[in-house]
Amino acid sequence: MKLIGPFKQIIPMTGLSLKGPIADQDLKTIENGGILIEGHHIKSIGEFDALAKAVSTDTEIHELHGDHTCLPGFVDAHTHICFAGSRANDYALRNSGKTYMEISKAGGGIWDTVTQTRKATKETLVKGIVKRAKRHMANGVTTIEVKSGYGLSIQEELKMLYAIKEADAQLPIDLVPTCLAAHMVPKDFDGNPAEYLELIITELLPILKAEKLTHRIDAFIEEGAFYPLLIEPYFNKAKELGFDITVHADQFTTGGSEVAIKYKAISADHLEASTEVEIKLLAKSDVIATALPGASIGLGCAFAPARKILDTGGALAIASDHNPGSAPMGDLLTQAAILGTFEKLTNAEVLAGITSRASAALNLSDRGQLQTGFLADMCIFHTGNYKEILYNQGNFKPCMVWKKGELVYNKHKH
Ligand code: NIG
Ligand code: FE
Repeated sequence: MKLIGPFKQIIPMTGLSLKGPIADQDLKTIENGGILIEGHHIKSIGEFDALAKAVSTDTEIHELHGDHTCLPGFVDAHTHICFAGSRANDYALRNSGKTYMEISKAGGGIWDTVTQTRKATKETLVKGIVKRAKRHMANGVTTIEVKSGYGLSIQEELKMLYAIKEADAQLPIDLVPTCLAAHMVPKDFDGNPAEYLELIITELLPILKAEKLTHRIDAFIEEGAFYPLLIEPYFNKAKELGFDITVHADQFTTGGSEVAIKYKAISADHLEASTEVEIKLLAKSDVIATALPGASIGLGCAFAPARKILDTGGALAIASDHNPGSAPMGDLLTQAAILGTFEKLTNAEVLAGITSRASAALNLSDRGQLQTGFLADMCIFHTGNYKEILYNQGNFKPCMVWKKGELVYNKHKH
């Protein structure tokens, strides 16, 4: 067993509702706390001195000096960190006035990354994922969802999903793979999206199942990608096979969130274009609304209506969408803090969006909160006041990160 502490503050993110607004006063705070760990899990949380007195003599004690605050390890519920190449040229073109869709139609955009990713070996992809994931880990992220979607053929999507699996095996933190074969209609099938979808329905989905490569299926529902009606046979088959559904929804035009609700998706992500209608429907449903401020910052677009989503009674998660095109920054804490200032979100709402509510967006019930029986995934900041974290807008990084009861990042050793 291990005992860590004393922490000036532990913010366990427990006992919070999944949906609707959260006031900062609703955040539970444990003062002068300690966390007792057995194996990968939290055995108990309480006052450090009391825990220290009660533990057996063979317990390893990790005593902290100075003021520290402990939060659950962050969960980044939406990324595309498996890719090759750079889209710095797209970024420059966007900033000189071209739109994301114009660049895409002119041969840049997602297709450019598909071309680079197809050329890369699986080993190169693994290296890229590991490098990016380690950076996320140093920023406090202990679970990262990673999508395929730059292969867009049976073989290339499988290459990406195997690369994600291998990277996961090399990393102390968890990667949660998602198949995004329906990211755009590949040029090889130009003008025939239904034929491409039929291929992934009949050939790819059964392989994903048999090889246990993922239990999550995503699609980009948008003009220029897949129309709602087109995607239905794909989602029908995915549901029949027992996959969880998640959707890139309402990024530029609406339509995606309604499909997400119809298919009882776990989450609908993006939502920058959602109107009152979609916001109300989402709030009534069990679908988690995932805002991706990194894509708004990367594209120079409006943020998802996070405040309205919460005030209407929706569940809001916040993820980085880290990808080479729309969201190259890849810094969840910075982006979540910025979303908070623009959308007027409380500390509690932002932190829940990257911990407890983010794990719900991945359908995971063993993380995102610090409590007995949950994974000992923790991120620790050198402060006695948790409000310093978002106040510093992402520039204040954790000093230590623990994953499944092990210290996996220590700022003073880097
Ligand atoms: O979530 N919107 C679609 N897909 C990604 C962007 C991928 C890319 O531009 O490479 C997103 O923003
Ligand atoms: Fe995305």
